[in-house]
Amino acid sequence: MNLEVLVLYYSRHGSVAALASQVARGVNAVPGVAARLRTVPPVTAQAGERLPAIPASGPPYATLNDLGDCAGLLLGSPTRFGGMAAALKHFLDGSGTEWLNGSLSGKPAGVFTSGSSMHGGQESTLLSMALPLLHHGMLLVGVPYTEGAVSATRAGGGPYGASHLAPEAAQTTLSEEEARIALHLGRRVAEVALRLTPARPR
Ligand SMILES: Cc1cc2nc3c(=O)[nH]c(=O)nc-3n(C[C@H](O)[C@H](O)[C@H](O)COP(=O)(O)O)c2cc1C
Repeated sequence: MNLEVLVLYYSRHGSVAALASQVARGVNAVPGVAARLRTVPPVTAQAGERLPAIPASGPPYATLNDLGDCAGLLLGSPTRFGGMAAALKHFLDGSGTEWLNGSLSGKPAGVFTSGSSMHGGQESTLLSMALPLLHHGMLLVGVPYTEGAVSATRAGGGPYGASHLAPEAAQTTLSEEEARIALHLGRRVAEVALRLTPARPR
């Protein structure tokens, strides 16, 4: 049976979803590892408002069990005022039991984001997503400069993780370098997950 790497993200207009597909491609390129794509519901200002349990389109919403099941995690969010979106933070803030149980401890993790302006806080958003993962005891995986796209990019993507520069809403086409960095990150988290998971008896 394949190990599973959880690709967990929030996307309102599709840019982060495009990155999620690409990091998942990288995960699935590693034999023995498969990506499990999950999203989180939006948060609303209406207290008690009931949202549909299943999204109208795209991958299902994550449950906290997904955190325990995964061998690694790739976490993605739009850049919102230089940090992660409330919807993703809300899901993570509900993971206290998993935090205390060490459900994610010792597992590799990578982060990805999309933003509309070049210096509008993509890096701080990646770091904002890394913080709760460190509290969970995860092992952060970045993108090394041996991946030439990290130096060559004139849009998103860097050593802290994958990102996409989307000046217009719903601009979901990744640049060549952004796509390479996202693929690299997915593959790298999957490879580390494979190495860190003890071989199971057949
Ligand atoms: C409330 C709000 C805050 C935002 N803050 C930033 C920001 O600080 N920096 C930035 O570059 N883009 C910012 N954006 C733009 C989004 O990050 C960008 O459109 C992103 O690509 C959306 O991802 P999605 O298509 O997956 O929803 C913001 C958008 C909204 C709605």
